[in-house]
Amino acid sequence: MSDVDVLDTFGRPLRDLRISVTDRCNFRCVYCMPKEVYGRDHRFLDRRELLTFEEIARVARVFVEAGVRKLRITGGEPLVRRDLERLIALLAELDVDLTLTTNGSLLPQKARALADAGLSRITVSLDALDDAQFRALNDVDFPVERVLEGIEAAAAAGLPVKVNAVVKRGANEDQVVPMAAFFRERGHTLRFIEYMDVGTTNGWRLDDVVPAAEIVAKLDEAFGVDPVDPSYRGEVARRYRYRDGAGEFGVIASVTQPFCGDCTRARLSAEGRLFTCLFAVRGHDLRALVRSGATDPELQDAIRGLWGARKDRYSELRSRATTGLPRVEMSYIGG
Ligand code: GTP
Ligand code: 5AD
Ligand code: SF4
Ligand code: SF4
Repeated sequence: MSDVDVLDTFGRPLRDLRISVTDRCNFRCVYCMPKEVYGRDHRFLDRRELLTFEEIARVARVFVEAGVRKLRITGGEPLVRRDLERLIALLAELDVDLTLTTNGSLLPQKARALADAGLSRITVSLDALDDAQFRALNDVDFPVERVLEGIEAAAAAGLPVKVNAVVKRGANEDQVVPMAAFFRERGHTLRFIEYMDVGTTNGWRLDDVVPAAEIVAKLDEAFGVDPVDPSYRGEVARRYRYRDGAGEFGVIASVTQPFCGDCTRARLSAEGRLFTCLFAVRGHDLRALVRSGATDPELQDAIRGLWGARKDRYSELRSRATTGLPRVEMSYIGG
């Protein structure tokens, strides 16, 4: 591990690396990959453009040497990348918190192999329990039952599970209380995410955002809840505990209560571009460095240089002026 942390221009250290392993997904969630945009004509990355597992593992190791403590594998849908457990095994050697965000559809057959390869824990995205609503949200008619089986398969394999639900006005806000009731009984931590203006293809409007305060009020009315102090600097979710002792839930309020001040996250795209913000316009090409024979110290210098120059705080600046800017898609850079 390196002695000196690299800090960006606002004094934020580099602690998390989110690694996208593919820009493809077997779902077409309406708020992420709308069918009209991601239909037959959409050009996804070619296989040769993707970093290999060995390249990813090397880059991740250099990030860990620069201070990263948490690795999160994302997509698109990461489990559509073949043999992903082989990458997990390579990353598990780094001995940091190693987790993965998935839509859960392939977990029934994959959970055991992921756990055996050394994954620390897992986050499953699920926006509704009502089958018809879930099928409409994923827009490929995928049944909710299969995702619930995936969650149970992960838990049975010994992986701690978190469930993330994006709440969109008019689409699933009526699912907030039933989902909380369901998951608190099963002991999985549920987090509600405010619908964000990521990318430019989902037709985001501020009116579609259900503010976290409204979600908390609904749950307080249903169960009685109290806020819990953050467990570490830069925690994305604000946590609450059910007053009857039945666990916790969280809200991720990146629209109404932005958390850029503590943002320690870097993102690596499947083709090896480094993004220092979820809302960045452009990434920095680390693949070119890797494939041109850069040494580990050279790679680390490049990473430190890019992080040191970082000024991003999009969610704090979000306004009429920023919403029209071009930016990267969630399915390309991961959640
Ligand atoms: P844990 O380590 O499990 O607590 O994960 P986390 O709190 O980092 O949250 P997770 O990775 O599950 O992210 C949940 C969601 O929060 C993502 O899908 C995004 O929608 C949102 N999110 C995460 N990181 C950021 C960020 O840096 N900026 C913004 N604007 N949103 C973020
Ligand atoms: N706003 C908030 N969260 C989003 N995700 C995808 N698109 C959006 C959006 N526009 C979430 C998914 C998943 C993670 C990968 O990112 O639901 O939990
Ligand atoms: Fe849905 Fe996640 Fe796929 Fe986007 S990447 S379409 S949020 S399952
Ligand atoms: Fe970090 Fe950018 Fe999200 Fe702010 S908007 S929390 S800087 S990723």
